Amino acid sequence: MKLIQQSFTASRNSIWKRSFIYTFFLVVVLLMACDQQPETTFGKPGDKFVETLLAKMTLEEKIGQLNLVASSDFVTGDFEETDIAKITKEAKAGGILNIRSVERIRTVQKAAVEETRLGIPVLFGLDVIHGYKTIFPIPLALSCSFDLGLIEETARVAAQESTADGLAWTYSPMVDISRDPRWGRVAEGAGEDTYLGSLIAKAYVRGYQGNDLQGNNTMMACVKHFAAYGAAEAGREYNTVDMSKLTLYEWYLPPFKAAIDEEVGSIMTSFNEISGVPSTSNHWLLTELLRNDWHFNGFVVTDYTSINELVNHGNARDDKNAAELAMKAGVDMDMQGRVFLNNLKVLVEEGQISEELVDQAVRRILEAKVKLGLFDDPYKYCDEERVKTDIMNENQLAVARESVAKSCVLLKNENKTLPISKNVKSIAIIGPLGNSKKDMLGNWMAAGEPEKAVTLLEGIQKKVGSDVKVQWIEGCKVDDSDKSGFAEAVKLARQSDYVILALGEHGWMSGEAASRTDINLPGVQNELAEAVINTGKPTAVVLFNGRPLTITKLDEMAPAILETWFGGTQAGNGIADVLFGDYNPSGKLTMTFPRNLGQVPVYYNHKNTGRPLDPERPDFKYLSRYIDSPNNPLYPFGYGLSYTTFQYSDLTVNSEGEQVHISVSVANTGEDDGEEVVQLYVQDKVGTITRPVKELKGFKKLMIKKGESKTIDFTLTKDDLAFYHPDLSKSYEPGEFVFFVGGNSQDNLQKTIDLK
Ligand code: BGC
Repeated sequence: MKLIQQSFTASRNSIWKRSFIYTFFLVVVLLMACDQQPETTFGKPGDKFVETLLAKMTLEEKIGQLNLVASSDFVTGDFEETDIAKITKEAKAGGILNIRSVERIRTVQKAAVEETRLGIPVLFGLDVIHGYKTIFPIPLALSCSFDLGLIEETARVAAQESTADGLAWTYSPMVDISRDPRWGRVAEGAGEDTYLGSLIAKAYVRGYQGNDLQGNNTMMACVKHFAAYGAAEAGREYNTVDMSKLTLYEWYLPPFKAAIDEEVGSIMTSFNEISGVPSTSNHWLLTELLRNDWHFNGFVVTDYTSINELVNHGNARDDKNAAELAMKAGVDMDMQGRVFLNNLKVLVEEGQISEELVDQAVRRILEAKVKLGLFDDPYKYCDEERVKTDIMNENQLAVARESVAKSCVLLKNENKTLPISKNVKSIAIIGPLGNSKKDMLGNWMAAGEPEKAVTLLEGIQKKVGSDVKVQWIEGCKVDDSDKSGFAEAVKLARQSDYVILALGEHGWMSGEAASRTDINLPGVQNELAEAVINTGKPTAVVLFNGRPLTITKLDEMAPAILETWFGGTQAGNGIADVLFGDYNPSGKLTMTFPRNLGQVPVYYNHKNTGRPLDPERPDFKYLSRYIDSPNNPLYPFGYGLSYTTFQYSDLTVNSEGEQVHISVSVANTGEDDGEEVVQLYVQDKVGTITRPVKELKGFKKLMIKKGESKTIDFTLTKDDLAFYHPDLSKSYEPGEFVFFVGGNSQDNLQKTIDLK
């Protein structure tokens, strides 16, 4: 290796010499790899290639691998400009985040491969959360599709596009369960349910990583934020989390475990503390649970400057102490904090941290690079040809459009206000979100280009053609008190055959660092809606938002409401498909819509309490209730209408040995073909640990043609009915179980049986 180092130094000024040496070096690396491949499997601890490389590394080079440095292409936290190429040449960067484009990535990779002593390639990562350039609906929206194949496909497209532009690693999926819509990051997750969230976590990992990380169009996923970040007190961003281990195991951890079972390559720590110990210094979480119990063999990256923040948490005295705590807890890579970079060497020299512990972290980073095939070809994602063919191509845009339509949830539809007839002569689109390109992309828009996003106005214009007069008027801003545009809006409504109100939040009002204490429609939008609806024109509300909102007032006024979230690049086209009936809506809510903020947290799988509401005694005071609001939400989990109607009948439940068979008949009793998400819930009536009033245990999404009736079968095992006990073991308790089947979590057929 010394020989190689001398050659590198001598060749600094000569390009041809450099490339010769590079080729030579690559051949050496390849020979080493080929030599060792038969003896061991790449990517598994103990990999010979990795061990040989590790043995050659100085302590400084090892610490460099544990440093993840932010570039300036995106800013996602406290940021200081860094010369990325310089830090890479100094062998002080194992990974770079927030960077994009083949050209930029190639330059930095060249610095790593050609200008460092060992030429270890860099891992390039970015928050590809709901698409790279083709932006899909926000994850909360996609979860409402209940379509795991579609979600997987969106992740696959995101990986195709990201890798075509140089990236190897995405900080997705975000699998934080949350029951609090004040928290802006609910937009990034799959909602409130653990069972669904776990299946969706797996779908994302499959989509990003495919079957083969060695390919050039798959990327490493990073499941985040470990753990319980979604339970921040009062929904305030980065706030404290305190919960019992039972709750953690039961509701918050399973989606992480699911991603790990799907072989996710990396995991990110969360910003919050859990019961007094921050995740990033939490040995129990990162080592005992993650490594010893779950056998996770990928690597652990912190969230942005999370190690530094141990000082603010009051858990570490200073950065040095923070580095020690994080390393000992089980962190492998430090995102943007430079705490490992600046402190680990001294800590090792002083004997506070053993070099073996550092080696263990380095090994995991190197293994990730091996898994990705970066040692075989550090430029495997740098193919300019793929930029032309694999980004925003027709197929990818078609997936995006389909995913918009399938993510929409029809909340209300009186008098068949929707779909809109294609024979109307004039349509007024009124509201601040009717023609906003940027807002369509929501938050975390990766490389998405707002100018390429299709707005509601554009989508409708394209759908109805030039024979229909389509006009848009803002009426008011999203978030101020100016009502001066109301008169013009009302005038336009009066002159039009049909009105679409385009209301909601700005894209930036959800996502990271976007908690709200008031989740009503912001500004004067409710008043605008009232003024327009009072014209008596047929009106449908189209909502754009990143969280459940309290829209009780709107719900009282508007005859039809379509929840569209933030649909991404193809938002306007996909929504128009639904509005005009070319796609019959099938989305179902994955987060409860409260009636008012005081109900929060309100979620479907709550406990019964000792004094539940009693329909027989509506006026009895001493029950678990409010004196100023019903307990039930405005729209429950699993809820969503269709243009057709479905009727459920003939529920049967039979137990047979270890299995329970559930069967139901669903008839399409309306006038349109449509898809329905048939949902199965279970209540375990009596437990040594009390069980929720209902838990989702299965669902099937299927097309039922008008007039048709289908039988849907589910099979559950007793394992599916098991739950956690105080010693954190999971087991099943025989007894009485209620099985509910229906089109949402509230209105179901039910059958109770005794299970042995
Ligand atoms: C977010 C992470 C994100 C990271 C890198 C942090 O602020 O919490 O979700 O992956 O930044 O951009």
